[in-house]
Amino acid sequence: MIPPKWLSTLFVTVFLAGQGTVAQFQLDLNDPGMLMVYWTGCSVVTNQGFPAPTESIKSTAATTAYNMMAYYNGNETGKEPGKLPGTWWEGGAMFMTLVQYWFFTNDSSYNSVIQQGMYYQKGNNDFFPNKHSQYLGNDDQVFWGLAAMTAAEVNFPEKDDEPSWLSLAQGVFNTQVPRWDTSTCDGGLRWQIWPYQAGYTIKNAISNGGLFQLAARLAYYTHNDTYAEWAEKIWDWSATTPLLREGVWTIADTTNTEANCKDHGDMQWTYNYGTYVSGAGYMYNYTKGGDKWKKGIDGLLGTTFRNFFPQKFENGTIMSEVACEPNQMCDRNQRCFKAFLSTWLAFLTTIAPYTTDEIIPKLQASALGAAQQCSGGDDKKHCGRRWYQEKWDGYKGLEEQMSALGIFSVQMITHGGDRNKAPLTSDTGGTSKSNPDAGNDPDEKPDVKRPITTGDRAGAGIVTAIFMGGWIAAVAFMLWGG
Ligand SMILES: *[C@@H]1O[C@H](CO)[C@@H](O)[C@H](O)[C@H]1NC(C)=O
Ligand SMILES: *[C@@H]1O[C@H](CO)[C@@H](O)[C@H](O)[C@H]1NC(C)=O
Ligand SMILES: *[C@@H]1O[C@H](CO)[C@@H](O)[C@H](O)[C@H]1NC(C)=O
Ligand SMILES: *[C@@H]1O[C@H](CO)[C@@H](O)[C@H](O)[C@H]1NC(C)=O
Ligand SMILES: *[C@@H]1O[C@H](CO)[C@@H](O)[C@H](O)[C@H]1NC(C)=O
Repeated sequence: MIPPKWLSTLFVTVFLAGQGTVAQFQLDLNDPGMLMVYWTGCSVVTNQGFPAPTESIKSTAATTAYNMMAYYNGNETGKEPGKLPGTWWEGGAMFMTLVQYWFFTNDSSYNSVIQQGMYYQKGNNDFFPNKHSQYLGNDDQVFWGLAAMTAAEVNFPEKDDEPSWLSLAQGVFNTQVPRWDTSTCDGGLRWQIWPYQAGYTIKNAISNGGLFQLAARLAYYTHNDTYAEWAEKIWDWSATTPLLREGVWTIADTTNTEANCKDHGDMQWTYNYGTYVSGAGYMYNYTKGGDKWKKGIDGLLGTTFRNFFPQKFENGTIMSEVACEPNQMCDRNQRCFKAFLSTWLAFLTTIAPYTTDEIIPKLQASALGAAQQCSGGDDKKHCGRRWYQEKWDGYKGLEEQMSALGIFSVQMITHGGDRNKAPLTSDTGGTSKSNPDAGNDPDEKPDVKRPITTGDRAGAGIVTAIFMGGWIAAVAFMLWGG
């Protein structure tokens, strides 16, 4: 019953020829598949499976993944696997997005590139490799931990001679927990790890939210309550500072130890909300519907929707990095944040299923919005930054493709199969092995006094410039305004 190969080839040729002049993606989220009637010479064969019902989503995501990977050359001879030019943390973010892409589409084209890069950067099984660790912040490291955690949750292929994905995530947890700093503000993770780094005096949302989410996911996967206790501790501490304001449900980007964590850099970023709301989702599920976490989910989702989905489109609203897209001020880091909110919200619908009806229309509208403006580059399929704009806005970097890949991949979640299943756990089929002691090697500590020798500080600079502006404004307010 399978049509001969040449028919598919013919179809693809005709189909693609017809597409030749079409700019951007023709994304159809409910593509019913095409009824093909084949004349094979001796019988008529109908085929519902080609193109498959989800062909439109898959091909859109595949092109975007391909365009994203064009910026990566770490797998070429003589290059450093896992390392992107000018940034270290984005490598982890990129692999996380690719693992999710594989999970949702089953396209394994990049699996060996992902494995090579992630294992190469594993350091002492804690994603804190000596080569880069002297300039890394907690947020840089945690993204790689979240990538490994994602790989564990979807049974992404492992290599027998390498540590498990789960243990690599545990290694990040184990190296970050000892950095919990009670010498200022009664707790919290600092943004930067080393005193010589600008940002050492700051405690920020992404570092604390990142570890909160990681801890919650480890609890969910392993059922080890120690992780859940840490998750709750980080959440509760955050709520004593402007980083997490319960009740009004806002997340400030930064707060400064020099102001006893009373001041606040209030820039609003999608990924900060994403880390906390997703972590609350895992805790909600882990505690079998705990009220505290439901309040957190509902509160933070409300603010997330109000803040970051300003524009109506089709049956939903389109996601926007509102602090920097309208004014065209997004720095390199900020351009990929939407990938994380997209995928974390999608997974949230599986661990807190009651959120599905609210979240899915927004993810769908965002994907349709994104697709209509992906007409940049030579192939006229590179995505720009502003999904709410009908036309491509002129940007087409790695980060723009990463954000778009995140929102395209998750559209598979409404198409059944295994793709709408919750992240795996150790007793629902997750096979990644636990090693609660991973990453605890005392020999592997870089020299604290070592000066920065590399110009490569992009990851560490996630919000420095913006923070400084916000901080000056806050101080000015305290001095003259209040
Ligand atoms: C590197 O990975 C890309 C996919 O991103 C692949 O097309 C290319 O062949 C790989 N190069 C090498 C040298 O393996
Ligand atoms: C996923 O892809 C693999 C090959 O990479 C194949 O063996 C498997 O059948 C595919 N699964 C589904 C559900 O399509
Ligand atoms: C936890 O996740 C599972 C898997 O999706 C789901 O069946 C269950 O309803 C969730 N628990 C709660 C309290 O929503
Ligand atoms: C969503 O919008 C489209 C057209 O904009 C419409 O045809 C469709 O019925 C709507 N779907 C739902 C579920 O409201
Ligand atoms: C639970 O996690 C903690 C913290 O990593 C660890 O010390 C403990 O051994 C773990 N317990 C089990 C049963 O794995």
